[in-house]
Amino acid sequence: MRKYKWGLIGTGTISNLFAEGLTFLDQATVFAAGSRTQESADLFAEKWQIPHAYGSYSDLYSDPEIDVVYIGTPHNFHFQNVTDALTAGKHVLCEKPMTVNAAETRQLVTLARSKKLFLMDAMWNRFQPWYTVVKTLINAGRLGELHHLKADLSFNFDVGPEHRIFNPELAGGALLDLGVYPIALASLFMGKPEQVMSSCHLYETGVDDQVSMLIEYANGATAELGCSSRFRSKNNATLHGSKGFVEIHGMIVRPEKITLYEYGKDPLEIDTPYSSNGYHYEAQAVMDMLDKGEIEHPLMPLDETCQIMETMDIIRAKAGIIYPGEKT
Ligand SMILES: NC(=O)c1ccc[n+]([C@@H]2O[C@H](COP(=O)([O-])OP(=O)(O)OC[C@H]3O[C@@H](n4cnc5c(N)ncnc54)[C@H](OP(=O)(O)O)[C@@H]3O)[C@@H](O)[C@H]2O)c1
Repeated sequence: MRKYKWGLIGTGTISNLFAEGLTFLDQATVFAAGSRTQESADLFAEKWQIPHAYGSYSDLYSDPEIDVVYIGTPHNFHFQNVTDALTAGKHVLCEKPMTVNAAETRQLVTLARSKKLFLMDAMWNRFQPWYTVVKTLINAGRLGELHHLKADLSFNFDVGPEHRIFNPELAGGALLDLGVYPIALASLFMGKPEQVMSSCHLYETGVDDQVSMLIEYANGATAELGCSSRFRSKNNATLHGSKGFVEIHGMIVRPEKITLYEYGKDPLEIDTPYSSNGYHYEAQAVMDMLDKGEIEHPLMPLDETCQIMETMDIIRAKAGIIYPGEKT
């Protein structure tokens, strides 16, 4: 078994969760932490027993021993961080959303492909056990033809306007932070949108804090999606087909159970527990592809990431949300 040395960029909330996830994987070595400051890098490295701590991101990229870089910084830095990591010859797993807009994502995809390096959007829920169960049901025809998806991810953020979720300087907004999940779920089950309709409410800083979306597909299917940073919802999803529907329980970012309702039959509950904190599945998926010499994962292909970003571009354009210094 080949082991892979991971370098983590950013020492905030998600990098801590991801570091914890990596500790559950035999194939992964959490090798280096990279921060804007040496102090944060040292603290993070001490907490997760990481042998190397770098006080700048560029020092981490320059470490020849690192195989894969994980990017856990705010969205607006992803483009530069991924560009720098790829340029340094590293494979990359980047937190969602991959970038601020589709134009940036496309540039990264071109760069990764030209350098023959692995790149993936950290859409972690696709790699968890629940998805295999739902996919098996769909493939077995238990839902029939898929007609509709309803999905939502909303939390009440009791934080000030400087927080990442509300801060335009950090590409804030419910859409890029939360809405990307129901949009990615719709993309996973329904494919490429034909038409995207949306209604946005804006927070005092000018970024969205509530978005309702209706997506139409060429085959007549629809998706009704939502996200908000103003209230907490059930955060679940229901996928409707001609023969029945499936409820995906728990938060859509990490579902723990599904219930299958086939018309004329008793509901069937299926537990889909995750192990560790659920972040290790995506990391293992990256290493599985590296083992095979692949530079994309078929379950989260780069063209689909571009498509997801395009959907969010459409919604932001309608709401007139442009981030400071944003290049499209
Ligand atoms: N997959 C998930 O479940 C999940 C959950 C939460 C967030 N996320 C994603 O992860 C990314 C980071 O979110 P987070 O909640 O971890 O954010 P966070 O707690 O604020 O941490 C972000 C880290 O990025 C670095 N950073 C670099 N420039 C920064 C700046 N100007 N302001 C603030 N931080 C800066 C900082 O690390 P250093 O100071 O060490 O450089 C900071 O600790 C976002 O893209 C978000 O969408 C994903």
